[in-house]
Amino acid sequence: MSKLQIALAPGDGIGPEVTGASLRVLEAAGVLDKVEFIEVEMGQRVFAAGDTRGMTDEAIETIERTGILYKGPMGTPIGGGGKSINVSLRKMYGAFANIRHFQSLPGVETVYSKAGVPVDFYVIRENIEDTYGGIEHRLTPDVFECKRIMSAPGCDQVHRAALRLARRLGIARVHCGHKANIMKMTDGLFLDRFRACARDFPEIEAEDVIIDALCMKLVLHPENFRMVVLPNLQGDIVSDLAAGLVGGLGFAPSANIGQHISIFEAVHGTAPDIAGQNKANPTSLLLSGLMMLRHIGMLRTAGVIENALLRTLEEGVHTGDFGDPGTPAVGTREFAEAIIQRIGSKPQTREPAPEPEEDTPHLERPARPTTNAMLRTFEQIVTQHVGADVYIESTLPIPELAQHLERLCEDTPFRLTLISNRGTQVWPSGSIFTELVDYWRCRFELRDHTLAGSLGQGPGISLLAKIGEKFTITDFQPLKDYDGRPGYSLAQGQ
Ligand code: NAI
Repeated sequence: MSKLQIALAPGDGIGPEVTGASLRVLEAAGVLDKVEFIEVEMGQRVFAAGDTRGMTDEAIETIERTGILYKGPMGTPIGGGGKSINVSLRKMYGAFANIRHFQSLPGVETVYSKAGVPVDFYVIRENIEDTYGGIEHRLTPDVFECKRIMSAPGCDQVHRAALRLARRLGIARVHCGHKANIMKMTDGLFLDRFRACARDFPEIEAEDVIIDALCMKLVLHPENFRMVVLPNLQGDIVSDLAAGLVGGLGFAPSANIGQHISIFEAVHGTAPDIAGQNKANPTSLLLSGLMMLRHIGMLRTAGVIENALLRTLEEGVHTGDFGDPGTPAVGTREFAEAIIQRIGSKPQTREPAPEPEEDTPHLERPARPTTNAMLRTFEQIVTQHVGADVYIESTLPIPELAQHLERLCEDTPFRLTLISNRGTQVWPSGSIFTELVDYWRCRFELRDHTLAGSLGQGPGISLLAKIGEKFTITDFQPLKDYDGRPGYSLAQGQ
């Protein structure tokens, strides 16, 4: 039988120690009889050799061929030259869903374990879009922006991944976390698409929760949650909050799932302060390895290893970063040995992990694409230009600014309908207490007699050119209706 191949990158700092320990456990459980790990070169050594990608051509070829990467933590060079490999990999390979599992573990004392409150839930975080696109500009001397891009297909991908996982794990209720009450368009889309996708999973209760309330509820009653799906930045924050509920980042496994390529890694970093000292805790990477085994269908082996780990923790075996300070800590290697000795045993103080029959490694992947895929959700939408938001830099008083702008649009199909500053309406009406900065949104809408649909984007661009003769333009946003519904938000106070 040919073995399923997986790319393996040991990583930097404590990376080689924790990957070594995890692999020894996997080997002892028989994984290497069915899976071949192919080591690839990534990380600090590659950066140091002058490759700003931090990974060799061979590494890229191997990851693309195998479709799975098991990786230790990797350092990001601070300052110029070389971006975070972790972030680059997720984006380059479209690993759109970040899955983290947070569960109370025996021997890992937390306020919840002491109170007898069980914690066991998943956070599924959108991994590509949101402010993590890193699209940022300095608009005026005083004003900076970060563009928050959210797409319908991007939302659909992460919601479907979450709901499919919930179905596979028998999770009956999934929450969508959001801030759609404030970001009605972007988070509103995230929530709408969650509801739309959930219609295909009728057995799953689809609920939503506003992000700030979610944080409070998670801390007060973590036992009420089994799976939460979140946009990128909110998911980033909530997943670290969740790690705190179960004893820290050392116990949180992470999977980055894409259509073609998936990456399994620990959530902690390279821990340079303890690197090379046999002190690192390999639990996070081992638990990520178990997610990987389940991803390829090795359900029984994953259950067997999880039970051995739980028994080890239950018996109080611990590395220096956790556990009873009254009992001596063991090293990374000894911790792995302790797990290996307990393979075949089950935890006594909690329900063991299931060990189903299914255990044949397999990976279903679509064929390698020959061109970049274009993702679409809404294909039959009628779009009409109805105006333009022109953003300008100015320190003029409001009435003077409005007067200039009204004059500039006199001979165009548009009239000035709104001026806002930092999202708050200041013209035609506003409050004298609204403090201003040197950046204005000036909204022009079709005059009453002009029919939407009778013009394309040309008149808006001509208006922009006219305003540009008088003012410094910072940006321009055509206003469009989609199937008759406005594709733009109102100002605060409008
Ligand atoms: P870190 O997670 O490496 O260390 C924070 C603290 O936690 C340190 O005191 C460390 O000793 C401890 N720690 C972390 N993992 C541990 C483990 N397995 N066992 C015992 N103690 C552990 O975070 P830091 O210092 O912010 O980052 C160091 C480097 O790691 C940076 O270059 C950063 O870019 C990189 N990093 C890489 C990640 C990845 O590859 N996915 C994730 C986070 C950081």
